[in-house]
Amino acid sequence: MPMPTHDFPVFTKTFHSSVYETINPENAALSASGKVILVTGGGRGIGKAIAAAFARAGARAIVILGRNAATLQAAEKEVSGIAQAKGHLTVVRSFTADVADTEAILGVFRSVSDEFKQIDIVVNNAASLHLATLEAASIEDYWKTFEINVKGTLNVIQASLKLGFDRNGAAPATFINITSVGLIMPTFPTWSNYVSTKLASFSLTQYLAAESGGTVRAFSIHPGRVGTDMSKDNNIPTFEEPELPGAFCVWLAATKEADFLQDRFVACNWDVDELLQMREEIKEKGLLKMAFAGTHM
Ligand SMILES: NC(=O)c1ccc[n+]([C@@H]2O[C@H](COP(=O)([O-])OP(=O)(O)OC[C@H]3O[C@@H](n4cnc5c(N)ncnc54)[C@H](OP(=O)(O)O)[C@@H]3O)[C@@H](O)[C@H]2O)c1
Repeated sequence: MPMPTHDFPVFTKTFHSSVYETINPENAALSASGKVILVTGGGRGIGKAIAAAFARAGARAIVILGRNAATLQAAEKEVSGIAQAKGHLTVVRSFTADVADTEAILGVFRSVSDEFKQIDIVVNNAASLHLATLEAASIEDYWKTFEINVKGTLNVIQASLKLGFDRNGAAPATFINITSVGLIMPTFPTWSNYVSTKLASFSLTQYLAAESGGTVRAFSIHPGRVGTDMSKDNNIPTFEEPELPGAFCVWLAATKEADFLQDRFVACNWDVDELLQMREEIKEKGLLKMAFAGTHM
């Protein structure tokens, strides 16, 4: 089945497909110096680009996890090399774990907090895409996506709260959930599995912010349509470079003024300078809120 041809929803006048100055991770104002970052699915695709962006921003430590040890080891070497080339002493670690496995994820967070004491930024990026109509779908395959995208998000959120985000009076931790433009696109046959799991992970992230009492900044972002195994395997046309969501995550983590974007749908290809200029209007009019039934009643 061909992909939807609808235009991508553009909120800002300027639309980016690659990194631009305001979100350049090498920009001193966005430094991740002293910060410990954990990225799920950090061995390839968008997750690896996010880890690389934090390496450019000089993070203290970057932890990547996924299921494939060989992929992770290669990424660990690559991300470490990027930090070194920029003169940063970033420690890079990789862990083999399935996000759907609660004990395995708790084990990773326990090891990371034993070594680094706290985690400042968690990027919930690992996910799976399974396309099928409701009638033809294998229930087992359909539910597997829920295990990875929803239970995986829950596992990562709970492990962050129990073992990573003990702030001890430090600045709030940052949680970034990688979601999808599918949440705001017209309904399209075969996408129910992916979109419903992303909607659930969006909701979990909203509740994380609401329940954390200001100790966690929690965002959900659409990364753009990026050429990765996921998009290639499913013949999805792509437009954005993987470095764009990486740089956007660094900007989001470093920019206190971005706090109003919590609880809202945000896309990495929207211009952040315009978003900041529109901050009061976005807040006053309740823009970019997910339009759940009842919101405007
Ligand atoms: N590419 C796009 O255009 C696009 C558009 C919108 C949203 N997204 C979202 O962006 C994120 C990254 O997507 P991508 O395109 O980079 O996908 P990808 O190329 O398929 O990479 C997925 C990553 O997640 C990891 N992963 C998958 N299942 C896992 C599991 N059960 N436990 C641990 N790690 C797991 C994979 O590592 P292992 O295989 O080693 O486990 C891999 O590192 C996803 O949340 C996706 O939904 C992507």
